[in-house]
Amino acid sequence: MGKVEFKSGTMLYPLPVVMVSCGETINEYNIITVAWTGILSSEPPMCYISVRKSRYSHAIISKTGCFVINLTTERLAKVTDWCGVKSGRQYNKFIETGLTPVKAPHLNAPMIAESPLCLECKVVNVMELGSHDCFVANIVGVQADERYIDRKTGEFNLEKANLIAFSHGKYYNIGERLGFFGYSIEKKKKK
Ligand SMILES: Cc1cc2nc3c(=O)[nH]c(=O)nc-3n(C[C@H](O)[C@H](O)[C@H](O)COP(=O)(O)O)c2cc1C
Repeated sequence: MGKVEFKSGTMLYPLPVVMVSCGETINEYNIITVAWTGILSSEPPMCYISVRKSRYSHAIISKTGCFVINLTTERLAKVTDWCGVKSGRQYNKFIETGLTPVKAPHLNAPMIAESPLCLECKVVNVMELGSHDCFVANIVGVQADERYIDRKTGEFNLEKANLIAFSHGKYYNIGERLGFFGYSIEKKKKK
């Protein structure tokens, strides 16, 4: 199978796509769609978002030092895209999309009520990398929608939330489960 040298670039797929909410006051509240995000450490829980200096949200997050990562779903796909093509300089994105801001318990920032899972993030470092600045943050709180928590087992069932991913410029639903962590070495049960 031959390979062709392709122009160098950021071709790592699929990516998460999330709505990042920020702002200290209701008038400042904003949402930016971000695909360049990920987990950096589990103990302590840490993550990053990479944001261009030109984004309205960049100045807000630099000032407040915090943001919320809101996971997004099939139902929220259109508003997720909209928040990624319009700027808070021109629009109040909560009003325009109908999304509901709820103050995050541990931060001066809003969460999005309609999101199934919200990560409250406090910035600990900003790396100026070039086109984007990488905000490295501690995850100081996780707010889960109770609709997805099994009342009997207490388990959080994210499969039911219909999360979406972003790959090569397009949005996808997650699709069918192929396995689970460690399934390749799972011992077969004796009959
Ligand atoms: C799917 C998608 C992913 C995006 N990912 C990023 C990203 O990782 N970093 C970034 O700076 N902008 C990203 N953008 C662009 C911003 O969301 C967009 O410029 C937005 O309008 C900025 O909003 P603001 O000016 O209100 O902050 C993305 C847009 C879309 C649609």
